[in-house]
Amino acid sequence: MPELVESAENVIQGAKEAVLPHFTFLKEVMETGPKLMVRGKGVRLWDIHGKEYIDGMSILWVVNAGHGREEIKEAVTAQMDKISYATLFGGYFNEPAVRLAQKLALITPGDLTHTFFVSGGSEAIETSVKIARQYHQLNGHPNRYKVIGRREAYHGTTYGALSLSGIKANRTPFEPLLPGFRHISPPYCYRCDFGKAYPECDLDCVRTLQQLIEFEGPKTIACVVMEPVMSALGSVAPPQEYYRKIREICDQYGILLVLDEVNNGFGRIGRMFASEHYGITPDMMTFAKGLSSGYMPIGATIVRRGIAEKFVDWMLVHGLTFGGHPLACAAALKNIEIIEKENLPARSAEMGAYLLEKLKTLEEHSIVGDVRGLGLHTSVEYVKDKKTKERLSGRVRIASKVEERMYRRGIYLCRASVDKTYIAPPLIVRKEEIDRIVNALDESIGEVEKEIA
Ligand SMILES: Cc1ncc(COP(=O)(O)O)c(C=O)c1O
Repeated sequence: MPELVESAENVIQGAKEAVLPHFTFLKEVMETGPKLMVRGKGVRLWDIHGKEYIDGMSILWVVNAGHGREEIKEAVTAQMDKISYATLFGGYFNEPAVRLAQKLALITPGDLTHTFFVSGGSEAIETSVKIARQYHQLNGHPNRYKVIGRREAYHGTTYGALSLSGIKANRTPFEPLLPGFRHISPPYCYRCDFGKAYPECDLDCVRTLQQLIEFEGPKTIACVVMEPVMSALGSVAPPQEYYRKIREICDQYGILLVLDEVNNGFGRIGRMFASEHYGITPDMMTFAKGLSSGYMPIGATIVRRGIAEKFVDWMLVHGLTFGGHPLACAAALKNIEIIEKENLPARSAEMGAYLLEKLKTLEEHSIVGDVRGLGLHTSVEYVKDKKTKERLSGRVRIASKVEERMYRRGIYLCRASVDKTYIAPPLIVRKEEIDRIVNALDESIGEVEKEIA
């Protein structure tokens, strides 16, 4: 039996020897040691050595309500005192899951009424695709099985979610992926696939959706899945009319529209949901991350009444043991209560505008190509040449270099890109903390700029 980890040294050794880290070279952990947080309060974190950090990314766009909320702890323990686990299989229910489903129906736009609970974002995406396919089957359209997503989009790493995602580096090691998934250009104005600029472009990127649907055959498409403000591509928020047009095209062809709010939802982009910002109601919405602010693992897919009604006389052939876990639902309910009570979406809009204004000053750096964002969902994109927008070689690992320097300066950023730094602090962040984040970023980028010159 290996010795159980107790001391700090043992934990650090254990991280090097016993864990397969996510999206990380093991070598890096072995050489530099794990970045291991042991405590969090508000927007502050403390690592295993006692050093304090500002959480610049809500860990992974998750902790919207901030760390160490006593109310959520109390809600979870109160539920534990009643019952810790009960399933949603076979007609059995539990109280927090029912109450959370009712709450989600109330706060989401339009006639989104019924929720299927899962454990995280990838499962929520898998669920939306399965519901779309079975829905069309029940409507007598079994050939509607194809799913359209976008290149550069991230929707998770399980096989279905990965097949929908458009990030080549994530896909390549696992080819062949599932059949039936297609991808269109992202609405990435900074690097437009068509070499055009908005509004003169008249949204060529939307037209490619219509072209693809016509090419594939409209009666073969089950759903279109999109993340409103694209996170992995670096806070890409398309123009207001983009999603209205996507909605129109989906309606025209009888295709279901799924908006992936796993990352955008629960105040992150300055409204409770990005769908609200764009003024549309999707046929399904997926959630995770900010749904519980990470206090418990939970995800969900909410569907319109018309979809749910299909499953009155026929069973939705889908289920997950931990879907609707009572402790996770209790945490999510209390988290939503906090987000509403403290008006965190409005706070995110206000602080996000301040953050973006500050970040814009970084455009003076020769390697900063673009700074963009919506609410507390912002990104900095690096380039080799500002004018030509030539990319830095992936080998330079620019975002990692910046991240390392930020970490040394006491700012926690959880990098997930080669050439972008994501800044997305908890929605309770204050101006002083934003100033500290941006000052540290200014210094870190300056150092990296000199190093690679
Ligand atoms: C937009 C979006 N969808 C889906 C996922 C997958 O979520 P999870 O990692 O919880 O499976 C993520 C995760 O970052 C995401 O950002």
